[in-house]
Order: sequence, then structure tokens, then C-alpha cells
Amino acid sequence: VSPEQQRMIEAHQFCLRYFQHLLLNTEDGEEGLQYLEGRGFTREMIEAYGIGFALPSWDALTTLLSRKGYDLAEMAQAGLVIQKEDSNGYFDRFRRRVMFPIRNEAGTVIGFSGRVIDTEGENAKYMNSPESPIFHKGKILYNLDQARPIIRKERKVVLFEGFMDVLSAKTANVHNGVASMGTALTLEHVQKLKRLSNDIIVCYDGDNAGWEAAKRAADLLHAEKLSVEIAVLPRGLDPDDYIKQYGTEAFRDKIIGEPLDFTSFMMSYSKRNKNFQYATDVEQYVEEALQYVALDSSAVKRELHLKQLQQETGITQETLTTQLRHKEAQRR
Ligand code: UTP
Ligand code: MN
Ligand code: MN
Ligand code: MN
Ligand code: MN
Repeated sequence: VSPEQQRMIEAHQFCLRYFQHLLLNTEDGEEGLQYLEGRGFTREMIEAYGIGFALPSWDALTTLLSRKGYDLAEMAQAGLVIQKEDSNGYFDRFRRRVMFPIRNEAGTVIGFSGRVIDTEGENAKYMNSPESPIFHKGKILYNLDQARPIIRKERKVVLFEGFMDVLSAKTANVHNGVASMGTALTLEHVQKLKRLSNDIIVCYDGDNAGWEAAKRAADLLHAEKLSVEIAVLPRGLDPDDYIKQYGTEAFRDKIIGEPLDFTSFMMSYSKRNKNFQYATDVEQYVEEALQYVALDSSAVKRELHLKQLQQETGITQETLTTQLRHKEAQRR
């Protein structure tokens, strides 16, 4: 760690305490606290994860950092303040947001994600720290510092789309969850996960974006030789929504407890938005499904998937088997 990085880390630690003080002890922070309480956050959770609040002010943090002797140009590089376009002044990056500290694997705070408390207005829902000498979005997995020993023990990691889902899952006693910071899963993320566990459950949002991202993540994880399962949520719900609607037990038992295997998920993915009244849709489904069935290393599972295909499409076992052999031959 360079002296510059050390100062940036110190500044983040200072900001965390400041944001938390505003949230917990001031009248200005009450709207933040109300927001969190409305979402079911307990005091214990808020303290354990260092959640705080940034004032609506344009310069409260900037002024404070400056007074504490931090160099504002350096703080701008760290992503805590922003330089004004036409002068050498600075202003607060995070304003009127609930602040979630982002920690690296060692538990050091290296960035923040701030959530708006009302979604009216044109502000992005989450504002994250930018790339900086200490914060690299494509490498960070939220909660990895806390989850690591549990992942090791349970030999399984759950990958969520957002850190809200990680925190919500904890209320359902799912403590082995991590999340990438809204970016697509990178190879660096995958390598990190691979060093901890061979088994991974992808649990992304049940909207279209979530399905697309889960498909991409599953392909990537599978290609990197991890054993991947996919926990699928009802249409339109994310893990946090599901827990609020159906409870923690249902989430643990029915969603995390009953994930789809890789092949079944890929078949479900392919089946989405297809209508088997149409021959072209059937043809496309069989084509796509068999491509993944051919990848399944278990002969028993291949057989089961074929049976499912037959039931869904009415195509005979003979035709499906012939096609599958063809795909298998192509793969050699
Ligand atoms: P979601 O839109 O699914 O957010 O984005 P969420 O986790 O459900 O949050 P709530 O429940 O609405 O508060 C998932 C992730 O994508 C990134 C964040 O990292 C978020 O956790 N994201 C989303 C952004 O970075 N910026 C945004 O404006 C939105
Ligand atoms: Mn670096
Ligand atoms: Mn989403
Ligand atoms: Mn979501
Ligand atoms: Mn959500």
C-alpha cells in the first residue's frame, strides 16, 4: 500500500464514521434512518455494516475533509469529492444518500455506494465510488470479507446482483452471499470465487435484465469449470422483494434450497418467450436445449433432460437422441 493509498483509506474510514454519526445521531439523518427502517434494517445490521447517511449539502463533507487536513485533489482522486468544472473548487460527490461502505477482502473500506431515499427526480438510484487507486469495481465482491469463513465451511457461495440482496439474505440466515457492484461478472471475480469454493449458486433478479445477466454469469462460471446452480425467482421479484413477500424461510428452503442445475436453467432460459404452438419456436428450443444437454457430464441427467424435452415438445425420443448424438459428435 502506497502512502497515497494509505491516506485515501484513512479518509474512507473517517467518512464512514461521519456518515454513520449523521445517520444515527442527528436530526438531518432522520430521513435516512426512516428509509432504512422502512426496508427492515435493524440497528444491529446498520452498525455491523457501517451504513450511514450523506447530507443534502453540496459541501459539508468537502469542508470537513479540508479542515481535517486532507488534500482535496487527492480526495477527488479517491472519489469522495468532485472538482468543479470551471474553478479549482470541490463539492461533495454523495448528497442526500444512504451510504453503504464497500470493503475489500481484508475488510478495509475502499469505496461507497449511496442510495437515493426517494426515486423521484433524475438521480441514479445508486451512486458508486469511481475507479481510484484503491477502488476497482471489476474486482470487488461485496461482503467477501464477512462471508469468506462461511463460504469455506459450507463449501458454497451465493452470488447476488446487488448488495441489498446480500444484506436481505442474511436475515434469512444465508450468510455466504456476495455481490458484484452492479457491473457484469468479470473473470477476476470468478478467479476470486474459485479460490474459495467450487460450488456456486447464482441468484439474480427475476426480471429480464436479471435473466440475461444470470445466463451470462452461468456460462462464464461453467466455462471456468465451476459447478454452477441457478436459484430462480418468480417473475419481477429480486431476492429482497421475495423475502419481504414470502418470508425468510421460503427464501432459504425454496429458492436457495432448490436451485436449478446448469442444464435445466439453460433450458428454462431458452424456453422463455417461446410459444410451442409455433414449429419454429419448438425447433429453436430443441436446438438450444440439446446444445446444453450435450454439455452435461452426467449420462443420467442427459437422459432426464431428454425426457423433459420430449414431454415439453412432443418430439420423439428417437429424434431427440439422434440430434443429441450429432451435437456430442460436434463437440469432439
Ligand atoms: P438493482 O436495480 O437490482 O438494485 O441493481 P437493488 O439491489 O434491487 O436495489 P434496491 O432494492 O432497488 O434498493 C443491482 C445492482 O446494480 C447496481 C448496484 O450495485 C445494485 O446493487 N446499480 C443499480 C448501480 O450501480 N446503479 C444504479 O443506478 C442501479
Ligand atoms: Mn490498485
Ligand atoms: Mn436488478
Ligand atoms: Mn434488484
Ligand atoms: Mn431490490
